[in-house]
Amino acid sequence: MARVTHVTRTSESLSPQLHDYLVAHSAPVDPVLADLAEETARLYPDLTTMQIGPEQGTFMTLLARIAGARDVVEVGTFTGYSATCMARGIPDDGTLLALDISEEWTAIARRYWERAGVAHKIDLRIGPALETLRTLPEGPRFDLAFIDADKEGYTGYWEELVPRMRPGGVLLVDNTLSHGRVVDPAEDSAQVQGIRDFNDRAAADERVELVLLPVGDGLTLARKRA
Ligand SMILES: C[S@@+](CC[C@H](N)C(=O)[O-])C[C@H]1O[C@@H](n2cnc3c(N)ncnc32)[C@H](O)[C@@H]1O
Repeated sequence: MARVTHVTRTSESLSPQLHDYLVAHSAPVDPVLADLAEETARLYPDLTTMQIGPEQGTFMTLLARIAGARDVVEVGTFTGYSATCMARGIPDDGTLLALDISEEWTAIARRYWERAGVAHKIDLRIGPALETLRTLPEGPRFDLAFIDADKEGYTGYWEELVPRMRPGGVLLVDNTLSHGRVVDPAEDSAQVQGIRDFNDRAAADERVELVLLPVGDGLTLARKRA
């Protein structure tokens, strides 16, 4: 891999103070999302890192609007934070297909989608996401996709989703830096290897233009070529 960072600027690594500052100088997190984050942390204190952060949520709402997205798919919904953010960025007659295997976690999501006034846009399907994706008609139908489920499955989700994206459609993929473990030679877990395999595949995929951003735990942003 070519090493370019010795001559070009690197991204900031965020201290907790800098992160608080950044959140304070972004659009305020509304009470529904704040309550959802708080309830998730109370019920599942060990799982809080599953949920995207507030600045990433705001970014995803804005991105959905900027992209003019109408039809969205999410792989990995958990308690519904990211789905709420994207659903807010699409028009009232837009659709968000949300895929997850957990009835328990998505029951919480459903409550917050009602409170946020976005429940009518969201079609939640419970089951292994790869199987659900394979049942969808082939051909372009989505404007925006977000992958945030089991890391070993990322490449499979990508291969099902890219052909189903409209030209110019946007794909977002979460955790693509894996808390820095992607560059740790001693790290050989299936999850991290899944992310590495995905990153290699996506970076070489000529169907998309792509950038891996240091947002949250690494957020890959790709645009399907027209
Ligand atoms: C990191 S969490 C998603 C967080 C969510 N995007 C948010 O912002 O709150 C990952 C989710 O993927 C789901 N998941 C794991 N394996 C899956 C599979 N094979 N098919 C569908 N969902 C799966 C888990 O149940 C979990 O809710």
